[in-house]
Amino acid sequence: MNRYEAALPPQVVAFIRRNRGLPHPESQLIATLHQVQAASGYLSLEQMTAVAQLAQIPLAQVTGVATFYHYFRLTPRGRHLIHVCLGTACYVKGTEQNAQRLMAELGIQFGETTKDGQFSLESTRCLGTCGLAPVLMVDGQVHGPVTAGDTARLLDQVTRKDKAPA
Ligand code: FES
Repeated sequence: MNRYEAALPPQVVAFIRRNRGLPHPESQLIATLHQVQAASGYLSLEQMTAVAQLAQIPLAQVTGVATFYHYFRLTPRGRHLIHVCLGTACYVKGTEQNAQRLMAELGIQFGETTKDGQFSLESTRCLGTCGLAPVLMVDGQVHGPVTAGDTARLLDQVTRKDKAPA
């Protein structure tokens, strides 16, 4: 196993090998990156380099695809994931203020993770719970209606749960 193969999950290496003989191996690039992110939570430069080398695709093309699609993460995900719904119902009910408050409290923008690795912040379009608008989803649990004044309390709840004895 070379260092590029070692940087990727075995199933991804096998997937790339299967596609390498096909006429346009780059057509499987997005599917390959999806698999890497599913296994690792994000795409590191080392992994993107390995994909480029093994699939024989220029690294610039790999990083170009990874940065073009918002779905791909280039930094590790935090311990807790917060989704802010920016769908129409939530927007009308003031989700923008919640988003601004969370960004200020966490010191990050959408798509980023706090320096301590505790929180990642993402935006999303309609969580299917418009009746509770405006909503946030914290670690898969929907909260709503949430006001900007509730965000600090929610963050505090999550942090306190971490510190509680098991
Ligand atoms: S628009 Fe936010 S849950 Fe539907």
